[in-house]
Amino acid sequence: MPGMLEFTQIRELVAGDLATVKAALLVATGAHPVFDEVNAHLGGGGKQMRALLLLLVARACGAENGAAVRLATIVERIHTASLLHDDVIDEAKERRNVEAANVVWGNKVAILAGDYLLTQSFCDLLQAGDKDAMRILASGVEQILAAATDELQHNGDFTLTREQYLDIVTGKTATLFAVAAELAAAISDVTVSESEALRLYGLNFGIAFQLADDLLDIAADIVEGKITLPILLALDSITDIELRQHITQTLNESVFSDELLTILNAGAITRTQLLAKEYVEIAQAHLDILPPSIYRDGLADLALLALTRKN
Ligand code: FPP
Ligand code: MG
Repeated sequence: MPGMLEFTQIRELVAGDLATVKAALLVATGAHPVFDEVNAHLGGGGKQMRALLLLLVARACGAENGAAVRLATIVERIHTASLLHDDVIDEAKERRNVEAANVVWGNKVAILAGDYLLTQSFCDLLQAGDKDAMRILASGVEQILAAATDELQHNGDFTLTREQYLDIVTGKTATLFAVAAELAAAISDVTVSESEALRLYGLNFGIAFQLADDLLDIAADIVEGKITLPILLALDSITDIELRQHITQTLNESVFSDELLTILNAGAITRTQLLAKEYVEIAQAHLDILPPSIYRDGLADLALLALTRKN
């Protein structure tokens, strides 16, 4: 698309703020040496997509910079906490191009370190006396926990409906994107309807982001028993009962069969990509409430880039 910003160019718009966020994330607290070790291992890594989103919305709305950086740090730290727990649940081996914390320190320490990062985030909010932010984040974390639990309970469940899947994706991933946008709005001089539009930008971007993740992770998700949209659409498209039974059985055995690959390539992958694109377009449309700026352009392009990401 002509004139589209690249990911590095979008990051460049708030590069100084992102560097401050990263430095803040890596500050050792001394609460327990192992928490500092886990945090040093994982805390400064990743794409920092949620922090980037928050900082861009804040700039687009003319928010005070110090508050935006503080909230972006908190959102990223909560994200890391959720990943520490997620990797225990998923028995993941790697995270952010390094060994997962559960591999290095074991499940128990990984869970406690996640609890610590989550608590540290709320302590920071308490210290800043930021009740609005606390309310937005506490309710966001509740939704994330409920959705992660739902996902767990539907592991290996091929009767999962598309609506149930989208509810899980919305809760576990899109919530924190929505929260990031809403937090930036809360420290800006915007109306209630503008804040709601920004929240919906984040929410729809987040859904598209997770759909893209599910397209990247098909093989790994099959091993974990995770039923994601490409797999649901593939199963839905099989009319031959015997073939469906065969594929369900291979999935139950965590096997990615050639037959499933053929069916995925025959339409399920394309349909998932198209749906993700629709969510990106909904997200972008919500940005119309913002005055034109390079930050608004960055937000629009960032959502679209989620679709072509490779990690
Ligand atoms: C990644 O999904 C996981 C999440 C976005 C959230 C998981 C949330 C929890 C486990 C609840 C704990 C939450 C807090 C705040 C402590 P994925 O497994 O599909 O993606 P992946 O490929 O990155 O692992
Ligand atoms: Mg996972």
